[in-house]
Amino acid sequence: MAQPTTLRQLVEWATRQLEQADLFYGHGTDNPMDEAVYLVFGSLRIPFDVPEAALDEPLSGAQCLRVRKRVEQRIESRQPAAYLLGEAWFCGLPFHVNEHVLVPRSPFAELIQEGFQPWLNREPRRILDIGTGSGCIAIACALAFPQARVDATDISNQALEIAARNAERHGVQDRLQLITSDVFSHLEGERYDLIVSNPPYVSQADIETLPAEYRHEPVLGLAGGGDGLDIVRRMLAEAGEHLTEDGVLIVEVGLMQERLAVTMPELPFIWLEFEQGGEGVFLLHHSELQSVKG
Ligand SMILES: C[S@@+](CC[C@H](N)C(=O)[O-])C[C@H]1O[C@@H](n2cnc3c(N)ncnc32)[C@H](O)[C@@H]1O
Repeated sequence: MAQPTTLRQLVEWATRQLEQADLFYGHGTDNPMDEAVYLVFGSLRIPFDVPEAALDEPLSGAQCLRVRKRVEQRIESRQPAAYLLGEAWFCGLPFHVNEHVLVPRSPFAELIQEGFQPWLNREPRRILDIGTGSGCIAIACALAFPQARVDATDISNQALEIAARNAERHGVQDRLQLITSDVFSHLEGERYDLIVSNPPYVSQADIETLPAEYRHEPVLGLAGGGDGLDIVRRMLAEAGEHLTEDGVLIVEVGLMQERLAVTMPELPFIWLEFEQGGEGVFLLHHSELQSVKG
């Protein structure tokens, strides 16, 4: 077949290349065709919603070469496309990413887009995001609640540098404070109406069997200790001291849902449901966290 020279042909070509390779999807797309669209449009910095006619216009030789190299890189290096492009999408917003931050993909996006309804009985004035990484959840919350002040913490300063770039990119730097903190260690005396977190929660055994794509992500963003729940347990033990009277804690634990429920049967976890996919996100109220022992 002749060399692909239009957007449509490049997407078709890239899809075939990806289909023939042994890749893992799970960093923003879940199939070769969507990944091809992401790589082709992202490599050329072309918006996804171009008019139909643009799909069949010829591209320059340099543009075609750039796409072909990206696709080859994706296959050979097994890096997630977001790292190759330096950008990922979350809540319909673009975020800078590099190897110091997890590629955004949390089901928290759906909760934020729905304004956390029906779970909040008033607009939160103070929000905390623990383990902010690229800052995606904290920044999307700041945009969803324009009156709120948001604190976003991470134990990794390299992650916080990326979060700072993203906060500026989305114009929320005046309402978003980035704090280096080991869970709540640097938040003494602070109270929040809403605490959100997508912490590391992969168990030691599971870390060792992750597909190659995940091994390009920072281990700090994934590894949650022996059973995966080290950070979550610390969060549960201390969250009560950092929530307002009607405050809520919402935490993603993914496939660790069952293990957590069995380990802490005394806690009345509410497991949230998602229309756009995702699971393992619990909600607890301030009053329910009072009796948790560290
Ligand atoms: C699963 S990633 C989530 C990143 C981002 N919130 C997202 O949803 O894409 C977890 C983040 O927690 C951070 N982290 C790991 N251990 C931590 C700790 N003890 N205290 C605070 N943050 C921590 C990691 O550096 C990483 O950025």
